[in-house]
Amino acid sequence: MAIRNIVKIGDEVLRKKCRTQLDFDQKLATILDDMAETMYKAEGVGLAAPQVGILRRFCVVDVGDGIIELINPVITEKSGSQIGSEGCLSVPDRFEEVERPMSVTVRAQDRHGNNFTVTAEGFKARAFCHEIDHLDGILYIDKIRK
Ligand code: NI
Repeated sequence: MAIRNIVKIGDEVLRKKCRTQLDFDQKLATILDDMAETMYKAEGVGLAAPQVGILRRFCVVDVGDGIIELINPVITEKSGSQIGSEGCLSVPDRFEEVERPMSVTVRAQDRHGNNFTVTAEGFKARAFCHEIDHLDGILYIDKIRK
């Protein structure tokens, strides 16, 4: 595994729409392992592929209950709302209040290409929304409460 460089705000790569990940191979596994290591080293709770310069639809999340890898994630259901503080490893030293759904259900694939569905609430739902937004070039600072 290896620590990857985290792209910071201002870099155009963070504003691109990512493409579907089609290959479930050793290369993907290596990138996911590197992203996890990079996220833990930076003490983040999530990291999306564009944040390491890869314009593909996958991310990793760990809010303290174990790592989850979401490849080609789609939010299929959301309900409620919550307002809370959010930060981003690509936007250093800044935290802002953002409104998110209280609960989301995400359909995704694992690193082997198997489909699964996961439901998350509270802070984990927030993390899922934040990381999935990255895959469409959206940063949380676009959503700061006015
Ligand atoms: Ni982020």
